[in-house]
Amino acid sequence: MKINKFKLEEFFAKYEFNVKYSLCSSDCETFSVKELLALDKKYRNDLLTLRLGYTESFGNPLLREEIAKLYEGHNKDDILVFSGAEEAIFIFMNVLLDTNESVIVQFPAYQSLFEIAHAIGVRTALWKMIEDVEWDIDLEKLKREISSNTKCIVINFPHNPTGFLPTKDQFKEIYKIAQENRLYVLSDEVYRFLEFQEEYRLQGMSEIYDKGISLGVMSKAFGLAGLRIGWIATKDKTLLKELASFKNYTTICNSALSELFAIIALRNKDFILERNLEIIKENLDLLDSFFNKYSSIFSWSKPKAGSIAFPKILIDRNIEDICIELIKQKNVLLMPATKYDYDDKHFRIGFGRKNMRKALEKFEEFVKENLI
Ligand SMILES: Cc1ncc(COP(=O)(O)O)c(C=O)c1O
Repeated sequence: MKINKFKLEEFFAKYEFNVKYSLCSSDCETFSVKELLALDKKYRNDLLTLRLGYTESFGNPLLREEIAKLYEGHNKDDILVFSGAEEAIFIFMNVLLDTNESVIVQFPAYQSLFEIAHAIGVRTALWKMIEDVEWDIDLEKLKREISSNTKCIVINFPHNPTGFLPTKDQFKEIYKIAQENRLYVLSDEVYRFLEFQEEYRLQGMSEIYDKGISLGVMSKAFGLAGLRIGWIATKDKTLLKELASFKNYTTICNSALSELFAIIALRNKDFILERNLEIIKENLDLLDSFFNKYSSIFSWSKPKAGSIAFPKILIDRNIEDICIELIKQKNVLLMPATKYDYDDKHFRIGFGRKNMRKALEKFEEFVKENLI
């Protein structure tokens, strides 16, 4: 398989670990091993006695049980664990799609959601969000994108990079459109549980639709990206078996250590999510004030969920140049929309980290010195 470079991840690889402040990360503040083990004394012993052989390919049954509890009507047999959401997307696309088929992908998008299908030789139709209406979705447009060889609709809510979250009715309408046309729905829900009000939270697509595939991960809301633990939840047992079979050619099984830490985190999810949402809400207020103060330079739609947003620069400058200049001058990283193949005006900003206030102060210095 030949595949185009993953622009956003390459940009991160180049700068993320060399800058002082990442102001565009999508994962929430992480935890140390010590902090996780402090959540319950018994886990220290579990860690010390853990055996480090191969693990069950579907994932540790205890972990699958914890993951199943995140959804209504699922049990552990509906869950397959992967090395991050990334492996799940790669395997799902390879298992589901044939070259004569096509997929519809919400856009802008995290690149792997369309690029892997493209690399397989599948036609990808982009379902564009409406920038001028706070990144809303147009369901009539979605219907128009469906053709006789469409196999799957790929959606992502809460959305990377805009933070857009549809209403529950809109979400159900997507399911109905898919059901009428017997299409699969890959629902990338990796930012689920980061809704700023709990009543905004959508059901998992796998809860409501037999051809619905919910994609989840420990990286974002739980802040544990280094574990590389993601999963797919679906009631389609045949598909699940085929995905597991393909996994024998990628990672075979997951890291036993990571699975243990994911179990600990999920058993303490209320504490973890509460802490991360607190950080997010505080940061979001800071961002709101910042963008209001500089409304002649930036426009932005305040998101309803997630840990990232996609503001736009209004002055006549190229955003990638600005981002590079910002790294050089202030050691602060923002993600230009060019890395999303979107435009040269938007940029991704992240607000899940504790040091965002300081990073924003540095960005403000840059704005005053360069953009006013
Ligand atoms: C929408 C979306 N899906 C999938 C992923 C991949 O998640 P992970 O890196 O944890 O595998 C990301 C990561 O940024 C993402 O934003």
